[in-house]
Amino acid sequence: MATKRCKKSLPFWNSSIIGYPFFGRHRRSDDMSENVKIAVVGSGYVGLVASVCFAEVGHDVICVDNDERKVASLQAGNSLIHENGLPELLEKFGNTKVRFTTDLAEAVRECEVIFIAVGTPQNQAGDADLSFVEAVACEIARSLTSYRVIVEKSTVPVYTNEWVTRSMERNGAARHLFDVVSNPEFLREGTAVSDFLHPDRIVVGADSERAAAVLARIYLPLTSGSYYSQGGAIAGPCNAMYPPPLVLTSTKSAEIIKHASNAFLALKISFINAISNLCEAADANVEQVARGMGLDSRIGSKFLRPGIGYGGSCFPKDVAAFRSVAEQLGIDFNLLAEVEKINDQQKKRFIGKVRAALWTLRGKRIGVLGLAFKGETDDIRESPAIEIVKLLLAEGCSIVAYDPAAMNRTRDILPAGSNLDYATNAYSAAKDADALLILTDWAEFATLDLDRLNKTLRYPIIIDGRNLYHPDIMVKYGFTYVSVGRPAVHPVRDLASSSANI
Ligand code: UDX
Repeated sequence: MATKRCKKSLPFWNSSIIGYPFFGRHRRSDDMSENVKIAVVGSGYVGLVASVCFAEVGHDVICVDNDERKVASLQAGNSLIHENGLPELLEKFGNTKVRFTTDLAEAVRECEVIFIAVGTPQNQAGDADLSFVEAVACEIARSLTSYRVIVEKSTVPVYTNEWVTRSMERNGAARHLFDVVSNPEFLREGTAVSDFLHPDRIVVGADSERAAAVLARIYLPLTSGSYYSQGGAIAGPCNAMYPPPLVLTSTKSAEIIKHASNAFLALKISFINAISNLCEAADANVEQVARGMGLDSRIGSKFLRPGIGYGGSCFPKDVAAFRSVAEQLGIDFNLLAEVEKINDQQKKRFIGKVRAALWTLRGKRIGVLGLAFKGETDDIRESPAIEIVKLLLAEGCSIVAYDPAAMNRTRDILPAGSNLDYATNAYSAAKDADALLILTDWAEFATLDLDRLNKTLRYPIIIDGRNLYHPDIMVKYGFTYVSVGRPAVHPVRDLASSSANI
């Protein structure tokens, strides 16, 4: 992209510009934010959260999905997604500032901007499957009569923008009637609403100033800080004095920012997991190492929590897709293969810990706490917990599992049977078990009644894949406690009384 300077005629590119193409923090809380009519295609995690949050900052939204059942459910006020703050916003804006429909053509006619937030699942080769994005682009093209900005919100590989443009032209859209912009999201499940309204940054990849101006208008309530000073704003880390910056880039850079960010975070997790293995071998403590590293502001303490590996709908898919993009571009990015390898090994290492604690696995009764890929969500996609449950079942263990939110979804893929059952709480899962495994970092698993747990288990053995407890406390409560990257602890035997009993 040519390094041209932005024109003065664009009011939001104000004096706080740090240097093209980065536009810094806007501190104008007196701006008159303009309402924009926005269509969001896709009512999954990203599309639905974006829809209600755009309404929250003042815009009118039409959320389109081709799944009639989903649309009917949303029209009735039910979200099919477990996400903090979402039910409240749905109640506030559902069927008023956010309308739900299956009619994409109508949404294209009515809205100035169309966000594409459909799924980009991983195909067998590890690439992102862009067929849903393409189908939506073709349909938009056929309904286009005046200028529209098409925004890629789904996670897509570099060059998708060019393909969307080409597909639209092939389907009859005149080039002057649209621009395609990349606006990746960085939402985490569970905190998606807060992440949307209080982002670290808003990335807009646009190769046309006209389209960039429209996106800047949409996000102005956040970048100017005006949203944060209005009564009833959802609280979070941003405020009127420190609103989030808008980072304006080329479309290709924005596409790469999304993949590179997720790949880097996955790398950070795999790095600390590798360090945790090293700590186990050296009898050191990874929590101490992570703290010592993380306090270096160049490294940062976030995403240095060791565990059983990353999962979820993004990291595994995005690392694989980014590796594939690099391969296609002829770039040797083997580092990403190592990130995946460490992540995979981490689950197997955990099985090794269970085996080491129990000697043999066949016929052992194991209690499992946690099935979701992380705490505070019901999502089990690519969950390392599910992978570990499957591996233990294959070893002949019998499992009783408990998760506060993810059991229904798990039942669909792992129905209860002779070797697998689901419990109604953590203590039922632990009842008469040879060992209890902690696989998901739910807050409630960090505050269990340890006396009760000890009495409930057949043997007081806990293998914690999320380091939710301090080893010193666990040993005090009489547990053999095995965690990640920290020395295992065992209850001290009273040697005097045991020798007297001989
Ligand atoms: C992630 C990104 O954080 C988000 O920016 C992107 O938009 C979507 O993907 P999410 O999948 O919701 O979000 O989960 P996140 O909280 O990032 O955790 C991902 C996985 O990494 C989980 O399995 C989690 O348990 C694991 N993790 C995270 C660790 O093992 N250690 C850590 O320190 C952090």
